Amino acid sequence: MQRDSIPDLADIELMTAVAEKSALALRLLRDIARDYAPVVFANSLGAEDMVLTDMIWREGLDIGIFSLDTGRLPAETYALMAAAERRYGRRLEVFSPRHELVQEFVAGHGINGFYDSVEARKACCQARKIEPLQRALAGKQAWITGLRAAQSPTRDKLKTVAFDHANNLVKISPLADWSEREVWVYLRANDVPYNALHDRNYPSIGCAPCTRAIQPGEDVRAGRWWWETPETKECGLHLVDGKLTRIATSKVGAGDTAEAA
Ligand code: ADX
Ligand code: SF4
Repeated sequence: MQRDSIPDLADIELMTAVAEKSALALRLLRDIARDYAPVVFANSLGAEDMVLTDMIWREGLDIGIFSLDTGRLPAETYALMAAAERRYGRRLEVFSPRHELVQEFVAGHGINGFYDSVEARKACCQARKIEPLQRALAGKQAWITGLRAAQSPTRDKLKTVAFDHANNLVKISPLADWSEREVWVYLRANDVPYNALHDRNYPSIGCAPCTRAIQPGEDVRAGRWWWETPETKECGLHLVDGKLTRIATSKVGAGDTAEAA
């Protein structure tokens, strides 16, 4: 969060809203752990993901937590991985890209070839994120993400529960209706560790060469792949053929029919 918008923990209304949303998210996580085992949480170490990490690890929920180490993450993200492991006494499962796919990309496009075209950028994301994600999700019934609808126009139809056709399993985003402010209230109120880059105007953090700080008034994802237009700014972890997809699932309750982002 930007330094000028540190949440006021004395704001009773805000604290109550966050407490209520937290209780709902925790209940959902417990239900998912029970009904969708084996289920995993994809942890980017971003602010939202630290909320979920805190809920899952502090409550000892039976939900595996993994991170995709693209090999190009900022030093601050690796520092947070280590800090989170120390704080909770748990080990993150880390998936690395297959070296031959990275070498192939670098041989074809150059070490920083992702700047040259959307196609090259997507090829890099494919090798460093999507292929490892597929391995991380193999054999799972559901995965959990820290997506929020308010993060970007590509995510505004996001619902809490969706069917992920690309990966063929249920996808759950317990913080779908949370605001950025609510995320930060949770983190501050529970003294959860977070990425040092957030204090330097990086609200959304991905790989180091593809993420920069935003300017006041800019969209929270403006610093991601900043040289591209907003419609292309997804790495493929959260798109189905570049489209939103509507589904219904049998295990979720009425009203939970959802759209994938
Ligand atoms: S991205 O698609 O643009 O990279 P973003 O950084 O907003 O996604 O993160 C959205 C969600 O995708 C995170 O809450 C997390 O669940 C998942 N995710 C993104 N990057 C990673 C990563 N490196 N490792 C694990 N999960 C990730
Ligand atoms: Fe490659 Fe950038 Fe995608 Fe990371 S975000 S996998 S460095 S193109």
